[in-house]
Amino acid sequence: MPDSILVAEDERASGEYLKLLLEEMGFEVRLTGNGVEALLALEAGAFDLVITDLRMPSMDGFELLTHLGQRWPDLPAIVLTANEDVSDVIDAIRLGAVNYLVKPATPSSVGLAVERALLTRRRSVIADATVPELVGQSKAMVEVRHRVLMAARSDVHVLVTGDTGTGKELVSRAIHTHSGLSKGPFVAHNCALSPSDLFESEFFGHRRGAFTGADRDRRGLLREAHEGVLFLDELETLDPGFQAKLLRVIDDGEVRPVGAEKAERVNVRFVAATNREAQVMIDEGSLREDIYYRLRGIEIRLPAIADRREDIPMLVSHFDRDGADSFTPEAMEALCRAPLPGNIRQLRNIVQGARAAAGDSPVGMLHLPADQLGRGGASALTGTGAGGIPRGISLRELERRAILQALEDCDANRTRAAKLLEIDRSTLRRKMAEYEIEG
Ligand SMILES: Nc1ncnc2c1ncn2[C@@H]1O[C@H](COP(=O)(O)OP(=O)(O)OP(=O)(O)O)[C@@H](O)[C@H]1O
Ligand SMILES: [Mg+2]
Repeated sequence: MPDSILVAEDERASGEYLKLLLEEMGFEVRLTGNGVEALLALEAGAFDLVITDLRMPSMDGFELLTHLGQRWPDLPAIVLTANEDVSDVIDAIRLGAVNYLVKPATPSSVGLAVERALLTRRRSVIADATVPELVGQSKAMVEVRHRVLMAARSDVHVLVTGDTGTGKELVSRAIHTHSGLSKGPFVAHNCALSPSDLFESEFFGHRRGAFTGADRDRRGLLREAHEGVLFLDELETLDPGFQAKLLRVIDDGEVRPVGAEKAERVNVRFVAATNREAQVMIDEGSLREDIYYRLRGIEIRLPAIADRREDIPMLVSHFDRDGADSFTPEAMEALCRAPLPGNIRQLRNIVQGARAAAGDSPVGMLHLPADQLGRGGASALTGTGAGGIPRGISLRELERRAILQALEDCDANRTRAAKLLEIDRSTLRRKMAEYEIEG
């Protein structure tokens, strides 16, 4: 039996168009003109999916979503919006919508959204899931977990932003794990690592013999991520010309491998991460505004650890097998005050290093790397200029010197220097520009 779809749309022409389109795709369609009619239809018969306009007379889409959530929580709903109004979209998702379509929706975008909604309809199963892998009880972290679950319950594309080491990859994986696509693949790709002349073959794949050196078929990231999630790390490093091509795939799901004659259809959910401010990148031209709009169906901003220091003790016990109790109060206090520009990753490294140094004894000040504790850390407590760091040096100056030193140690190789500094390449590039370091 074909899946049946209930459409609620007050604009006759738009509703008829959608009905026709969905019928051509093989679905059974019932068209209603507002929320009240839609509810009556739901009482009378069973449906697999609801597509509803947001602005309608007598009962609008938001109210319909509320009823759906209460009475048919397993039934997925997609909303139609007249423009990509983020606040409407977020409100709809908060009320349980799984995806949105911007009117007039193209046949392929309707196809992709409907397919994915039918593939992942298990809202109630994950509705009360928690996200235990994301540690932290601060207000900011509670909000992050809430957004992760909202993202997991829906089908929209997600943009995750935050400084280096704040957990962007962890969050992206959590969205996949807790979503209806968890049985599908999670394909991770760092955009900074692919040379721009290989984008095409990397994403679309290629046929054997398509170009010199193509000695066998390659599937490409998009086809590998079919019916799963493609995680695009360091999105800002993706060439803007290629961003336009990618946008087309996001919209119509068509992928033509290099050297192939026919395009293939893929259905991929995108989760992108960046450690830069989107608006700044748009202004400078490194991020296309249209792809940004498409990717931030939900935007998740990760706070720097410095803005949620109350989470540090919990994180310490998470990273140390013996738990927070095995840190002396001074050591714990020093960690809670450390500047931690490398955020949670840096904290994890410090904790693990300290544990290795302390063995089975409690971790004390001695085991912590004085150079990473900042002012008020080891040197202040012990009264010595620990780690050979000049007293009174500013953190900025310390960072600048660390970068210069790392570049020198790595013969100006930025990839290696970034690794040594435990930051990513784009962060290094940004900081070098900030400190006017030539390299
Ligand atoms: N809330 C959290 N709870 C527990 N562990 C966390 C949390 N956030 C991050 N981590 C851990 O911190 C480390 C860094 O996280 P992750 O790699 O996701 O950061 P990132 O934002 O992608 O960093 P980068 O910008 O450098 O790529 C990982 O080991 C991750 O497991
Ligand atoms: Mg990362």
